[in-house]
Amino acid sequence: MIEGVQRANTPACLVFIVYTLMAAWHLSRNKLLFFSCALFITLAVGVHLTPSFTSFFVFDHYRDSCTDLVNEIVWDVQPKSVDVLDVQKNSTETYDKNWDWVRSGKVSACEFQKFSKSDALHLLNRSWVVVAGDSQARLFVVSLLRLVLDEERMDSIEGDWLKRHSDYKLVIDEIGMKLDFIWAPYETNLTHLIMKYKVKRTYPDVLVMGSGLWHMLHVNNASDYGARLLVLKNSVVSLLPISPELVTNGPVTRCLSNRSPHLFWLGMPTLINGMLNMEAKRERMNDAMWHAYDKVLGDCKLLHQRGGPLMLLDIQSLTRNCGPRCTFDGMHYDGAVYDALAHIMLNDLLAQSYQSL
Ligand SMILES: *[C@@H]1O[C@H](CO)[C@@H](O)[C@H](O)[C@H]1NC(C)=O
Ligand SMILES: *[C@@H]1O[C@H](CO)[C@@H](O)[C@H](O)[C@H]1NC(C)=O
Ligand SMILES: *[C@@H]1O[C@H](CO)[C@@H](O)[C@H](O)[C@H]1NC(C)=O
Ligand SMILES: *[C@@H]1O[C@H](CO)[C@@H](O)[C@H](O)[C@H]1NC(C)=O
Repeated sequence: MIEGVQRANTPACLVFIVYTLMAAWHLSRNKLLFFSCALFITLAVGVHLTPSFTSFFVFDHYRDSCTDLVNEIVWDVQPKSVDVLDVQKNSTETYDKNWDWVRSGKVSACEFQKFSKSDALHLLNRSWVVVAGDSQARLFVVSLLRLVLDEERMDSIEGDWLKRHSDYKLVIDEIGMKLDFIWAPYETNLTHLIMKYKVKRTYPDVLVMGSGLWHMLHVNNASDYGARLLVLKNSVVSLLPISPELVTNGPVTRCLSNRSPHLFWLGMPTLINGMLNMEAKRERMNDAMWHAYDKVLGDCKLLHQRGGPLMLLDIQSLTRNCGPRCTFDGMHYDGAVYDALAHIMLNDLLAQSYQSL
C-alpha cells in the first residue's frame, strides 16, 4: 500500500515542480493546455489515479476562483462606416461587435483566452458534445461549429438545418469528435434526455442544456417552470457522480476527463420587449415574467453558483451588455454573443480538465 502511495505521489510532485517552473517562465495558459493534456495522458497511462493523487491537485485554487469569473465579458459595439449604414439601415450588421474578458483585477489574473481553432480541436479531441435546448442552444452550436470546422464545411451545413425544429448530428472525423444538437424546447424534453442517458448508461463528455422561452410563451407560469426545473435538477443529480466503470469509452486517451460529464446551463437571454415580433410574445414575455422565471431558476439550485450541478453560460449578462444593437427581434442575438459563449465554455472546460489531472 505504501508503495502505491509513493507511486501516486512521485508524479504529483513532478506535476508540481514542472508547473512551478512553467509558471516561472510565464507560459500562457494555452501552452499550459498542451502541457497539461500531454501530462494527463502520460500519467493516466502510467499511474492508476488514486484519491491521494487527485487531492494533491495544484489547479484547485484556479478553478474555484476563476470559474465564477469566466462570464465577465465586456462589449465594444460601434457603428460601421457610413456607406454600409446606408445599405442596411435596420440590421444588426451595421454594428461592429467586439468582446473580451474584463482585463483588470481578479478576472485578468485568470488569463482567459479566446481559443484558436487548433486549441479548440485539441481540447475537444475525441470528445462527445451534446447541446440540447431551443433556438438559443442552436445558435450556440453554430458558434461552436464555426470554431472547429473549416469554412467550406460550415457553409455546407449552416443554411440547411439552422431554421428547422429538429435534431442534428455531426462527426468531425479529423479529431473523432461527435457533436449532437437535440431539439428540446421544454424542460421536460431535457429531463427525458437525461433519463435516456441514465438508462443507456452512456453519457456525453460535455452536455449543454437550456430552455425557458417556450415555456414562458406557451405556459406562462413561473412556478410551473420552477417545478419542472426541479425535476430536471433531480434527474441530473441522480446521474452523478458517474463511477468510471460506467463510462463506456475505455482508457483515457484524450484531453477532457471522462470521469463524469461536464454540464452547462445556457439560460435565457435578456428580452427586449418592444422588439419582440409577435403580440403574444410582447404580452406574455414581459419584464415581470422574465424576472419571475429567472428567480425560480435561482431558487431550484440547478446552477453551480447555488450549489447545483450545472455551470452557467451567462447568456443573460452577455445579451444585456451587448444590448439592443446586437439583436433584430429582441430575443435572438448576433453571432458574436454565441461566439463569446462558446469561448466561455472552452475556458471553463480547460479549467475543469486541470482539476481532473
Ligand atoms: C429590416 O429587417 C427585416 C428583417 O430582417 C427585413 O425583412 C426588412 O426588409 C428590412 N428593412 C430594410 C429597410 O432594410
Ligand atoms: C487527437 O488525439 C490523437 C490521439 O490521442 C492524436 O494523435 C492527435 O494528434 C490529436 N489531435 C489533436 C488535434 O490534438
Ligand atoms: C417536448 O415536450 C413537449 C411537452 O412535454 C412535448 O409535447 C414534445 O413532443 C416534446 N418534444 C420533443 C422533441 O421531444
Ligand atoms: C401554475 O403552475 C402551478 C404548478 O404547476 C399550478 O399549481 C398553478 O395553478 C398554475 N397557475 C396558473 C395561473 O395556471
